Amino acid sequence: MAPNIAIPFILFIISIITLTTSSHSLLSNEAFLQCLHLKTKTSIKNLSKLLYFPNNNTYSSFLLFSMVNTRFNTISTPKPLLIFTPTQDSHIQGSIICAKNHNLSLRVRSGGHDYEGLSSRSQHPQPFIILDLINLNSVTVNVEHGTAWVQAGATLGEVYYQIANKSSVLGFPAGICPSVGVGGHISGGGMGTMVRKYGLAADNVLDVRLVDVHGRILDKDSMGEDLFWAVRGGGAASFGVVLSWKLRLVPVPQTVTVFAITKSAKEGAVELIDKWQYIAYKLPEELFIEAIVQTVTNGSSRRVEGLFNCLFLGNSSELVRVMGERFPELGVGMKDCKEMSWVQSVLFFGFSQSGLPADSLMDRKLQLQNKGLFKAKSDFVREPVPKDVLERLWSRFMEVERASMFMDPYGGKMAEISESETPFPHRKGTLYNIQYLVGWSDTSSKASKEHIRWIRSLYKQMGPYVSRNPRAAYLNFRDLDLGRNEWRNTSYFKAKVWGVKYFKNNFKRLAFVKGDVDPENFFRNEQSIPPLFL
Ligand SMILES: Cc1cc2nc3c(=O)[nH]c(=O)nc-3n(C[C@H](O)[C@H](O)[C@H](O)COP(=O)(O)OP(=O)(O)OC[C@H]3O[C@@H](n4cnc5c(N)ncnc54)[C@H](O)[C@@H]3O)c2cc1C
Ligand SMILES: *[C@@H]1O[C@H](CO)[C@@H](O)[C@H](O)[C@H]1NC(C)=O
Ligand SMILES: *[C@@H]1O[C@H](CO)[C@@H](O)[C@H](O)[C@H]1NC(C)=O
Ligand SMILES: *[C@@H]1O[C@H](CO)[C@@H](O)[C@H](O)[C@H]1NC(C)=O
Ligand SMILES: *[C@@H]1O[C@H](CO)[C@@H](O)[C@H](O)[C@H]1NC(C)=O
Ligand SMILES: *[C@@H]1O[C@H](CO)[C@@H](O)[C@H](O)[C@H]1NC(C)=O
Ligand SMILES: *[C@@H]1O[C@H](CO)[C@@H](O)[C@H](O)[C@H]1NC(C)=O
Ligand SMILES: *[C@@H]1O[C@H](CO)[C@@H](O)[C@H](O)[C@H]1NC(C)=O
Repeated sequence: MAPNIAIPFILFIISIITLTTSSHSLLSNEAFLQCLHLKTKTSIKNLSKLLYFPNNNTYSSFLLFSMVNTRFNTISTPKPLLIFTPTQDSHIQGSIICAKNHNLSLRVRSGGHDYEGLSSRSQHPQPFIILDLINLNSVTVNVEHGTAWVQAGATLGEVYYQIANKSSVLGFPAGICPSVGVGGHISGGGMGTMVRKYGLAADNVLDVRLVDVHGRILDKDSMGEDLFWAVRGGGAASFGVVLSWKLRLVPVPQTVTVFAITKSAKEGAVELIDKWQYIAYKLPEELFIEAIVQTVTNGSSRRVEGLFNCLFLGNSSELVRVMGERFPELGVGMKDCKEMSWVQSVLFFGFSQSGLPADSLMDRKLQLQNKGLFKAKSDFVREPVPKDVLERLWSRFMEVERASMFMDPYGGKMAEISESETPFPHRKGTLYNIQYLVGWSDTSSKASKEHIRWIRSLYKQMGPYVSRNPRAAYLNFRDLDLGRNEWRNTSYFKAKVWGVKYFKNNFKRLAFVKGDVDPENFFRNEQSIPPLFL
């Protein structure tokens, strides 16, 4: 089932005879295609429709299409030898075998939201190909069992839409941005507005289908406990290619309530965020209030503001009552609250506005319109940040055109799951997660350097007030500043520096799983798990 958007890209047939690229890539391309033909029993003609070679003018636009961080859209960024958009499982099995046979490395791209662009580029000297799963995006909902099978190339928006299409009282607890792909997102954790009630997306995975380094399709039973554990938070890119997930859907009320309240510093934003730190993680699990500090620039005017975005799994009168009791300082009244269906709340958070038609969630092109250049970093907070430190953020944020600090409260279900149950260890004792993000529009390397310097300095400034030993980070907010693997020598001891930030004590178990399932380290990237052997 190809989404509309893919059609213009696949309406062409490539004749390998007319390829005019360098002889090296010509040979690799041709050899790879021949191998794929033999392994998948798909005709060259049919395969050609699914391939993008560098000499075709659709190659660059397709490469860019779901590369969400356009910081990596430069001439000097290493490009893939080809991009393959498989339409069936055997295409993925064949790609792995043929890539190994021809000494190519492989990157898998689902939604393309990786913060460091690791699904679209490779800094390693070995030539690489991209498997883009855009055509593998079916979502099959079973209302009776409260489950769904979703292919790895589906977006969160597609998953949410298809669930709501079948039931108004079922949902799924995953991320806020509808264009994120489930391939990367769920394998890296996945958190959103229902995290306090139902945990992470990865906590609600019942089964998975994955192609391993030998080209075999494994499921929960055949892959064994360790690998099934590893791909639910450890990042699947180190272990294989996820074909699909079986998800446990969760009950949501017919009517939920949202609000979005903005406060300037004069209106007490700093005091409110300070108070929020002490209560947000202790509120009823049905209540999720995200706090945001952000810089808004409009022409020559710039301001920094505090935002409180809320999803409540209940009605507005109940929400006003709870807020009056627990957080009266925010002054939430009926006029601030909007009741709606759960899927409408997804649109409200995803597009920062309400009233859009639900099928906007199916429109990748619409959702990918406002991508751009950015750099992000993350933290976990275990003790409230002092108020004067929060206050100082205002002057820091005035220094840049567009920046945000998203604070997502934990507690509830997150505090009930043990640190080792999945690779994602940031559970009990975590008050909230921070994501720092700075965006800019000037494509010069000078602008890029300046903004990256800014966010690094903000991160340094926050160091004393966030989690320590290790200073923890969230894999899905990938940050290569934390460290990266060397080409070929992916030393466990070197990787531990960043590995324990993402995974704490789970890093070692992940490395043993890696040693077991991919000892030669075929599934490798700048921040993949290094193999460790017993
Ligand atoms: C605008 C925006 C909003 C976001 N909002 C949230 C949010 O609300 N909550 C949250 O938790 N995160 C959020 N994220 C982060 C997001 O969860 C991660 O970037 C996630 O890894 C993206 O998955 P993807 O498939 O879109 O990305 P990709 O770039 O395609 O993949 C990310 C990584 O996973 C690998 N991968 C992808 N598919 C597969 C597969 N099928 N098998 C094996 N490996 C695979 C890739 O090779 C890459 O290493 C957001 C990101 C952006 C850009
Ligand atoms: C490039 O793509 C176009 C349409 O997308 C197709 O008509 C053309 O044959 C392709 N060229 C090559 C060399 O593959
Ligand atoms: C090629 O594609 C056509 C149309 O999609 C299909 O009918 C045919 O079976 C395919 N052949 C091979 C060998 O893949
Ligand atoms: C791949 O690399 C190995 C080891 O470096 C080499 O022996 C082999 O000939 C290469 N294969 C191809 C197809 O280039
Ligand atoms: C569900 O999807 C079908 C087919 O696309 C559509 O006709 C129908 O209106 C949708 N129903 C709801 C409730 O969204
Ligand atoms: C930006 O400023 C202009 C002129 O002052 C105003 O009309 C417009 O609504 C502002 N846009 C936003 C997004 O605030
Ligand atoms: C709102 O929810 C509360 C708690 O569930 C319930 O007691 C109350 O009757 C509901 N009010 C309305 C107007 O539905
Ligand atoms: C790999 O890196 C480790 C740690 O830096 C080092 O001890 C080891 O000698 C390196 N191995 C090779 C083959 O370069």
